[in-house]
Order: sequence, then structure tokens, then C-alpha cells
Amino acid sequence: MSPSRPTSRRVAIDALVRIDQGGAYANLVLAGMLDQARLSSEDRRFTTELVYGTTRMRRACDAAIEPYILGALDPPTRAALRLGAYQLLFLRTPPHAAVSATVDAVGRKTSGLVNAVLRRLAARPPTWPDVATRLSYPDWIFDRLCLDLGPEVAVAALEVMNQPPPVTERGDGYIQDLASQWVAAALEATDRERVLDVCAAPGGKATALAAGRATSSSAVVAADLRGSRALLLRRNVERLRSNVAVLRADGAQLPFRDGSFDRVLVDAPCSGLGALRRRPDARWRIEPDAIERLATLQRRLVDEAVRVLAPGAMLVYSVCTLSVLESTGVDDHLASVHPELVPAAPMEGPWIASGRGWLLLPQAAGTDGMYVLRLRRP
Ligand SMILES: C[S@@+](CC[C@H](N)C(=O)[O-])C[C@H]1O[C@@H](n2cnc3c(N)ncnc32)[C@H](O)[C@@H]1O
Repeated sequence: MSPSRPTSRRVAIDALVRIDQGGAYANLVLAGMLDQARLSSEDRRFTTELVYGTTRMRRACDAAIEPYILGALDPPTRAALRLGAYQLLFLRTPPHAAVSATVDAVGRKTSGLVNAVLRRLAARPPTWPDVATRLSYPDWIFDRLCLDLGPEVAVAALEVMNQPPPVTERGDGYIQDLASQWVAAALEATDRERVLDVCAAPGGKATALAAGRATSSSAVVAADLRGSRALLLRRNVERLRSNVAVLRADGAQLPFRDGSFDRVLVDAPCSGLGALRRRPDARWRIEPDAIERLATLQRRLVDEAVRVLAPGAMLVYSVCTLSVLESTGVDDHLASVHPELVPAAPMEGPWIASGRGWLLLPQAAGTDGMYVLRLRRP
């Protein structure tokens, strides 16, 4: 007999318990557990789908099983029920397979309960109390985006961000979403221009900006505040043999003289509300007050970036979020403090105008959601 191999569903239940209980990051937990479980590549893919999908749809799954639960649930039983509900409601697994395979993955003690609840759920589709529950987002994210984008556009964005992202690979092998590739292109940097990327780790945009630059004097300068992030950036730069000079620096206090650069990118830390499909647990981690805090930092970063712009130079500010405060709110600040800056040419493609900047909705081209602002110093 071959040694017993844990099934995808059993690994998924263990991972879900660790993500939910210990606050572990979904991608990190899963990577370690998949290596240990020695699953086939097909089973690895399926387990990833189960864990990421169930994590995303946690709120909806809880609401769906809730009418059939009487007492408190221990964490593995709750994880198994969420997993079963996810397969039934969102993965469209045939009911018989979803129920029996999930029951097989739990211990004898709880298999009766899991079987009973999932069978009842399979027999009757859930009635959702509201749209935020059906789409499985915290109320504050749902409300924020409905206010900032309008309910129709927000719901379409939230629906798209429940789908796993496609993998897009650049010519040099770096995996990067198209939206980020378009942001790097938005700098329209030529080889001779002095380019600074203020918040650069892990280096996706900096290495894209350095493509075609060969001499050390034409290196893209890429900074990041945190040592561990700067290290990650350096590793990517080395792996891609990219002409990028890495430094650890605070973007709000840059070690450069006024007017030192022709192109400055501030790809600022943000709430990530446009890229929620990328990290399945992100929606449960972000705190509502993070937006205000991040917007304060973003305003400081752009102020400092403006200081190092040479005459005629261009500032590109980008965030992978859709909140007003972190997008047009930052531009409102720039317009009042630096009225001399003027908008550069419009963005082409699926971007829509948002004040003087440009918004890329996740539903427009199946990319991450982004906001970009391009301003020139005359
Ligand atoms: C959105 S990520 C940048 C992604 C990167 N541009 C890319 O395309 O791969 C934001 C980065 O800003 C960095 N950061 C946060 N605060 C900063 C600060 N005050 N100065 C410089 N970098 C900062 C974070 O460590 C993080 O790596």
C-alpha cells in the first residue's frame, strides 16, 4: 500500500485554520504546507484555489451556513464548512462530490455535522442579507467604494476582484500585472533622462523603467524605506541584470538636491483596494483608518518628489487603490501646494479621467485597479 497522502481538502482545511486563527498570511502559509504535503502539481493548484477562494468568500460562506448552525464551532469544523460552502456556491462543484469529499477530509467526530449542514445547503440556495455579504467584503470596503465610485461601478469592481488574477509575464520573465506595466510606461522615460523611483520594492516598475539602459551613468535610481524591502529589490535587480541603483531611503526625506531628476515615480504605499484579487486575505486585514493614515504619507511623498523635479520634469504618482482620498485627494493637495505643476498628456487605453488623473477600473481590462497622475514642472 502506498503511504497515505493528505488530500487537497485536508491540507486546505489545515491552512484555513492557520490563516484564520493565527493571522498567518495566506500565501506564506500555503507555500510551506504545499511543500510539506508533496502534492502533485494538479493537486497543488486545486488546493491553492480552495484556500484562496474560501478565504476571499469567507463572509459569504459564513452567512450561507449560519442558518444551519446551532452551537459554537471549533476552528477545523468551521473551516471545513466554509470550504464545503465555497465549493457548492462559488466553485460549482457537483453537490455530491463537494459534500462527500469535504466530509472525508474531516475527523469522525465532526463528519456528521459537516455532512448534515452541507447537504442542507446543497438543497437550498442561500438568501443573502445584503450585497456586501453576497460579494464577501467587509462593510467598510463595500461602503467606501460605493461612496467613492458610485454603487454600480463599485459592485462591478468588487465582483471582478473576487476572481483570481491571470498571470502576465514580461519579456524578461518578470511576472507583473498589465496595469503596473502601463504605469511604468506612463513615465515615457528616454535612456538619457535621470529617473527616480521613490517607493521601488520589489522592483517591478524600476526594472521595467531600466529596460534598454546599459551604462552605469544611466541607471534608474530606486529607493525603498525598509531594509528588508530594499534587499528584495536588490535581489530582483540582480536576477534580471537590470541597470538599477538601489538605495535605502525615506521617500519623504530624499538624499538628493532640488531639481535632480527628469522623471520621478511615486508608486506609493496604499490601501490596495484596487488589487484585492491578488491577496485573498487582504480585505480582512486592512483597517478602515489605514486610508487616512496612508493619504497623509502619500501627500508627504509627493511633496518631496516635487522638490527633486528638474525644470520640465515629470512626476508620476500611482496607487493600486480606488479610494478618493488616496487618488484625487492627493492631487487636490498638490494643486493647492504646487499650483505651478501642469497635467501631462492624457493616458491612452482603458483609463478614465478622474479629476486631473486617470483611473483604471479592474473591470475595464481585467487588470488590477489603479490611479495614475502625471504632472509636469514647467
Ligand atoms: C506599492 S509598493 C511599491 C511597488 C513597486 N513600485 C513595484 O512596482 O514593484 C510601495 C513600497 O513603498 C515602500 N515605502 C513605504 N513607505 C516609504 C517611504 N516613506 N519611503 C520610501 N518607500 C516607502 C514600501 O516598503 C513598499 O515597498
